[in-house]
Amino acid sequence: MKNIVITGGAGFIGSHVVRLFVNKYPEYNIINLDKLTYAGNLANLKDIEDKPNYKFVRMDICDFDAFYQLMQDEKIDGIIHLAAESHVDRSIKDPFTFARTNVMGTLSLLQAAKLYWESLPEKYEGKRFYHISTDEVYGALEMTDPDGIEPPFTTKASSGKHHLAYGKDFFYETTKYNPHSPYSASKASSDHFVRAFHDTYGMPTIVTNCSNNYGPYQFPEKLIPLFINNIRHRKPLPVYGKGENVRDWLYVVDHARAIDTIFHNGKVAETYNIGGFNEWKNIDIIKTVIATVDRLLGRPEGADLDLITYVTDRLGHDARYAIDSTKLQKELGWEPSLQFEEGIEKTVKWYLDNEEWLDNVTSGDYQSYYENMYKGR
Ligand code: NAD
Ligand code: TYD
Repeated sequence: MKNIVITGGAGFIGSHVVRLFVNKYPEYNIINLDKLTYAGNLANLKDIEDKPNYKFVRMDICDFDAFYQLMQDEKIDGIIHLAAESHVDRSIKDPFTFARTNVMGTLSLLQAAKLYWESLPEKYEGKRFYHISTDEVYGALEMTDPDGIEPPFTTKASSGKHHLAYGKDFFYETTKYNPHSPYSASKASSDHFVRAFHDTYGMPTIVTNCSNNYGPYQFPEKLIPLFINNIRHRKPLPVYGKGENVRDWLYVVDHARAIDTIFHNGKVAETYNIGGFNEWKNIDIIKTVIATVDRLLGRPEGADLDLITYVTDRLGHDARYAIDSTKLQKELGWEPSLQFEEGIEKTVKWYLDNEEWLDNVTSGDYQSYYENMYKGR
């Protein structure tokens, strides 16, 4: 594979994937295809935008004709598909946009790729359609208390490694889909279409389902960057419900590394779960973030704990997500490189060191970055 499209490359995870591929594979042509919605920001890629193997194309993934043309013009061999509407709270307010982009957009890419690849003498040989999905499609897990032990308790993953967990059950690649939010329902639907294109037409597809990501360049509507920014400004921290919901957190660069491994070595038609065996209750993460921001800003210990504000719970709020990524670890040798404590320190430090980025995205100024940068080109 030589000519690769990464959709959603101006977003949070996509920008890390684009950066990794552009730097690691100078022999590839990397095309970042992004519509630049509120979540897309080319400033995320300033450090690589002038590399000769990188190109940005502004396009809506729902634009079938434009994408089919791009497939032909650029002789695309591989697609790494991250573009999506990604925020659960927005999906609760506006489910239609999620169905349009996540379902119809994915279907549009699949159909254009199918038509182009089937027109080639080698057809699907050496081609790949890799769809990035979420663990949220599996639904929610219970918080169980085995043998009367108060969670979190130490448990053993099927990889044989011990880790802390808030329940006995995990999401496996074989877990039945049971999405609850409009976001996860739209992602589940897109996953089904991707698998259907393999099963029906023989398209070489791969799907991965990853847990919650955190790290630099995440839009500050998601828990960790939103709270870092609010603590910075001493604004209230809206904790949904009791703050007892559990999420499994992975440093974004480790997700990008997993995507690289799976894109190159994953088996066609397979699903891989990606996660760090790293479960945290929201309230514990929030306290860790407060302590880290306060320490790095030189504020007294516990100075900002009073910002914690319990608010009405999110509708249909999933209790617990926990990924079992043993298959990926055993079959492809991937492992997370960072412990959570290290990752959160790096993350908080990055946002505090990049206040201009934070201020731009919270004021909306970044949306003129593209217009300014491409003026006259
Ligand atoms: P994000 O919201 O930060 O970025 C999404 C990107 O897609 C943006 O650059 C946006 O401009 C682009 N986009 C949106 N609609 C588009 C359209 N119609 N056409 C072209 N581009 C469009 O999202 P993220 O957090 O980086 O997530 C990326 C992918 O990873 C998504 O598919 C998401 O479901 C999945 N995922 C995210 C997480 C997470 O914790 N963030 C975890 C697992 C899986
Ligand atoms: P979020 O970052 O939106 O990711 P997801 O919903 O995909 O897991 O939220 C992470 C957790 O934090 C989730 O349980 C909801 C909670 N949360 C809050 O308590 N307050 C907030 O302001 C936000 C954005 C999230």
